[in-house]
Amino acid sequence: MSDANSINIKRKAIIAIIALPSVWIISYLLGFPILFRWMFAVYVVVIFLFFLLLDAPAMERRKRGGLSILLTFLIGSVVYTVIGVGFPQYDPKIEREKIRKLTTGRMEMAKIEDPVKLIEAGKDAYDLYECYNCHKLKGKGGAKSRGPELDDIGWESAFYIKEALLDPMAWIPDEFDKPKLRDAMPDYYSEELNEGEYKAVMAYLKSLRLSADKMPRGWWTEPRIILEGKNIYDGITNPSVNCAACHGRDGKSVMSGAREMRDANAKGSEKTDVSRKKPIKEWSDKDWFDAIKKGVPETAMLGWGQALSDSDIWKVAAYCATLSGAKGMTQEKLKAFLETEHGKLLTSYLKKEDERKEKVTELEGEIEGN
Ligand code: HEC
Ligand code: HEC
Repeated sequence: MSDANSINIKRKAIIAIIALPSVWIISYLLGFPILFRWMFAVYVVVIFLFFLLLDAPAMERRKRGGLSILLTFLIGSVVYTVIGVGFPQYDPKIEREKIRKLTTGRMEMAKIEDPVKLIEAGKDAYDLYECYNCHKLKGKGGAKSRGPELDDIGWESAFYIKEALLDPMAWIPDEFDKPKLRDAMPDYYSEELNEGEYKAVMAYLKSLRLSADKMPRGWWTEPRIILEGKNIYDGITNPSVNCAACHGRDGKSVMSGAREMRDANAKGSEKTDVSRKKPIKEWSDKDWFDAIKKGVPETAMLGWGQALSDSDIWKVAAYCATLSGAKGMTQEKLKAFLETEHGKLLTSYLKKEDERKEKVTELEGEIEGN
């Protein structure tokens, strides 16, 4: 190799060494995803090799050149085919089906009146909008595990689910610049869903419940739920349901014979179901539910099944349990949480309920126009 040639190679190597990090950094600053940035880097290397090849001395003419070309072509084809098969495939049939649903299916959904069919349509809409990318259902989907699992979401109030879907940033106070959180629930569904899809998705989400006999997942210790339960217990949500009138605001009975709520070792009454004649710290979820739903015969404790929805019964049970700490959350822990930044955020979010309801109604109006 001549001296001139080696100087030439060095010059090109230096350019490549400068170009490689520059391309990397510039593509980062321009916001290219990592895959693209790798691709650009590989291009730089390939271009460098190409220029080296240009400088290489000419080879002697080969005798069986045709065969070499054929072999190169064959090997290349095999390599490309293998790589192609290895990468994820887009099945045109599935993609077409998606587009079909986007156009005709969208309109159809709005007309579905049968509740079972509506739920099925909701599952379609859920798949169509690829909610599974971030949410797990029955252990499936959400490879990136960004959002909460939705298996038990049906216990939440319709308003809660609507707000989660239409105004997911509602809990962030106005003083904050509503950030574009990378892994947050997208805030464009009020623009994308049409009325039929929205109704169907809502029906579908409301139908998702794990068990009728179990406290909805996480609720025993969820401050938001416990605070809602407290409002029911104190008669704020509905003045005709006022547990505090007999059991006392802090669980210290104010009516003779009413259950002492603060003692986890207190047993259920003689008149109660067999399964509840044990210390309340040993009560199952179902014991709590039945105690409130059915009440205790021959006592002032009526069943609240008429006045309260099943969801509300779980909520008030979650609050009652904090009075004795029977299920892990205590009044002290709750107070300590409410002092934290997160706790203060929650309090201010709950206070704005009227405002939030207005906003959700407004967004629902937009959906009707989609
Ligand atoms: C980019 C990821 C992502 C996608 C896509 C997504 N979500 Fe979410 N979702 C989230 C995150 C993150 C949260 C938690 C938000 C929070 O806590 O503020 C969430 C919260 C929710 C909640 C409230 C759950 C709870 O337990 O409080 C519901 C309901 C929900 N999403 C439904 C949907 C539906 C329906 C779709 C499809 C139309 C969807 N999501 C698509 C990320 C996503
Ligand atoms: C009119 C008074 C009154 C009201 C209102 C009331 N209770 Fe009771 N509660 C009682 C009495 C009396 C008992 C029976 C106490 C006993 O024998 O242990 C009882 C028992 C209970 C028990 C234990 C049941 C058992 O099987 O041992 C629970 C739990 C309970 N109440 C929760 C509630 C909740 C939650 C509310 C509100 C939705 C409520 N109570 C409203 C009077 C009342």
